[in-house]
Amino acid sequence: MIDPVTVDKIKNTADIVEVVSDYVHLIRRGSNYVGLCPFHNERTPSFSVNKQRNFCYCFSCKKGGSPVNFVMEKEGLSYHEALLHLAKKYGIEVVERELTDEERARQSAREAMFIANEWAMRKMEADMTDTDEGRDIGLQYFTHRGVTDAAMKAFHLGYALDRGNALTDAAKKAGFDINVLKTLGLVGTSQQGREYDRFRGRVIFPILNPAGKVIAFGGRDLKGGLAKYINSPESDLYKKSNELYGMFQAKSSIVSEDKCFLVEGYMDVIGMWQSGMKNVVASSGTALTDGQIAMIHRFTENITLIYDGDAAGIKASLRGIDMLLSHKLNVKLLLLPDGDDPDSFARKHTPEEFKEYVAAHETDIIRYKAEVMLDAVKNDPQNRIAAVNSVVESIAHIPDQVSRDVYVQECSAILGIAETTIARAVGKARMALVEKLKKERTRRDYPVQPQPQTVESQAQPADPAGEGGMPSQTDIATQPDARPNIPTPQSHPLYPLELAVIKYCVRYAFLHFCTYEEEIADSPQGEKRIVSLDVLDFVKEELSESQLTFSVEIFGKIFGMLDEMRPSFEKFLDERMSEVDRGLDTARHEGYTRIGESNLSMEEIKREEQKLEATLTARRQEAVKEFSKEYPGRILGSHEDAQVRNIALELVFEKHHLSNIYLKDGVTELEEDKLNVLLVRAIDEWKNELLNLRIKELIKKFHEIAGKGDTEEEQRIQLELSSLMAMRSEMAKYIGERILSSRRAGML
Ligand code: UTP
Ligand code: MN
Repeated sequence: MIDPVTVDKIKNTADIVEVVSDYVHLIRRGSNYVGLCPFHNERTPSFSVNKQRNFCYCFSCKKGGSPVNFVMEKEGLSYHEALLHLAKKYGIEVVERELTDEERARQSAREAMFIANEWAMRKMEADMTDTDEGRDIGLQYFTHRGVTDAAMKAFHLGYALDRGNALTDAAKKAGFDINVLKTLGLVGTSQQGREYDRFRGRVIFPILNPAGKVIAFGGRDLKGGLAKYINSPESDLYKKSNELYGMFQAKSSIVSEDKCFLVEGYMDVIGMWQSGMKNVVASSGTALTDGQIAMIHRFTENITLIYDGDAAGIKASLRGIDMLLSHKLNVKLLLLPDGDDPDSFARKHTPEEFKEYVAAHETDIIRYKAEVMLDAVKNDPQNRIAAVNSVVESIAHIPDQVSRDVYVQECSAILGIAETTIARAVGKARMALVEKLKKERTRRDYPVQPQPQTVESQAQPADPAGEGGMPSQTDIATQPDARPNIPTPQSHPLYPLELAVIKYCVRYAFLHFCTYEEEIADSPQGEKRIVSLDVLDFVKEELSESQLTFSVEIFGKIFGMLDEMRPSFEKFLDERMSEVDRGLDTARHEGYTRIGESNLSMEEIKREEQKLEATLTARRQEAVKEFSKEYPGRILGSHEDAQVRNIALELVFEKHHLSNIYLKDGVTELEEDKLNVLLVRAIDEWKNELLNLRIKELIKKFHEIAGKGDTEEEQRIQLELSSLMAMRSEMAKYIGERILSSRRAGML
């Protein structure tokens, strides 16, 4: 458990643009940022990041959320882990409290798996250096292959003792649930039912996800056994086709070099890494998948495939390039001298030589394909056509028209075929491809069985990861009146009315709402004081005056949370403002210097100084306003309860605000500037509906007892009815007109 103040601090500090930028290349567009969505493969950016509201959203796959949501989803972390991840990123010190037994029990299965994997990794790392067997066999093997200490450390290489069940026993002793280790493939069960260490006697390559958590292991045989490698089975932590070995160690270099090398094996990654080419990952011997390509694309658009220069390597290099091209990656190919793999090549050459070799031999994949294919079919006209078609097909996969044109030109020269002929063929292939993609998209966007959004499905987040609950904001974005995500039956008569009120509370809780003078109660001189209310204060007063409470449970809960948030809001506002004030002081200093150095008359100087002060005051007010507006969304949008999170994000979601900008005589008015009307009306309508309900109820009751002799009760009901009806007509008079309750009129 993290202490609550620290939690709020993390939520307040985490900046969506910064958090997302670790994964997505963002481009500024207006006040927002856009980029390629990290949750699905796409060629044109539909992922938008709203800095001010501090959340992100993909208009195509509908994923997004607060920084916490984003990290949970992206890194496959639980809520708690996501907070820790963000704390680390921002250097916020986290003091964790011991878990209670109950909390421990509630720890998710995934977390238990991560913990077990982490433990096993540490143990096998230690066993390699701290035991005789480990040193003699594991360490000896790596040393013999030229692996440096730094590389062993960075990749957490280890050795699994060859003792049948050394790891199994140690795990039991350490209190692990052996079934978890079985799921992870660390422990196997023999046909006789005996448990054994699956990786025993092998050197170990832990596989980390991009966040650096251990998700699987590869174990290399050292004794000439049948299986050269055994790997962890697929699990909740490990989807082989989505991972790339070495990504965690490589990602920062991939970004700084703006390039990613792709090799085949564990040892290739390590060999290149230790020779200084750190931007390298491996597909672990299988063909690249869309998911892996998307992962690379998050960090760079440039990829260089490295293959052995033998026939098999050349063949392999041509496989899967269409997929890479369609991901808008610039794909290059590097063939190593026959007989070398990246690991051996890296060890034979200095890093400088390696880099020179790359520069000299890296070739564009399509050009290469054209050349190789042509070469292979030189004297074979039949296959020549097939080869040309294959090149055409590859060019057609490039999304960018300009790049396609360039390749058409080049390949025309290489293949000795007229440019127009190739261009026409590429155009045709491109059209066919686009048709195919369209069909696929339709199938994805309109699945045969649309998922019904019911109250129940909301209670349990729809995503399998449980906590990953991203708000599905589609419906809201497209049809403002449908609110399928807010889990209250539409039949609840007060639901839409309470929603309107809670909406303004979540969006503007701490925004200044009104100021008025009030006589101090027992003051004989009729002294007055100035009262200043923010949105939340105002709603609270209104509710308590009318003895109203939210009848929709989740709204009541959120309202309570907003109220409890006030102390931390004030604390962080103070912090923010001292930062702002420092900036303003500098601006003030510069302003006065500028005025002082100018050639102005006394009169003009005075005017300039007043102007300067007014600007600074306005800037300060603006900063307070901005912070007040974004704070509740930051905290609730990162709330532990997925339902609260989803509702909060929905309510602050930018799209809604489109409907809240009023165009009047060409003047744009923001919702926040009309709050005095909107909020007051929302509360009035709610009250009015409550009156209606009470009246209906009384009428029903009256009909039930009428003529049954209970005249006293009949009279009581009639009396109440007439007073309620009077109230109602009174209310009707000023609903829609009332700007503020009378006592505050004119004070805004
Ligand atoms: P390699 O056979 O080239 O292995 O397979 P290697 O890692 O380069 O090992 P050395 O250099 O011969 O010692 C390439 C990759 O394919 C996967 C592993 O990820 C390996 O690194 N692989 C290979 C397996 O998963 N299982 C296997 O049985 C073989
Ligand atoms: Mn190899």
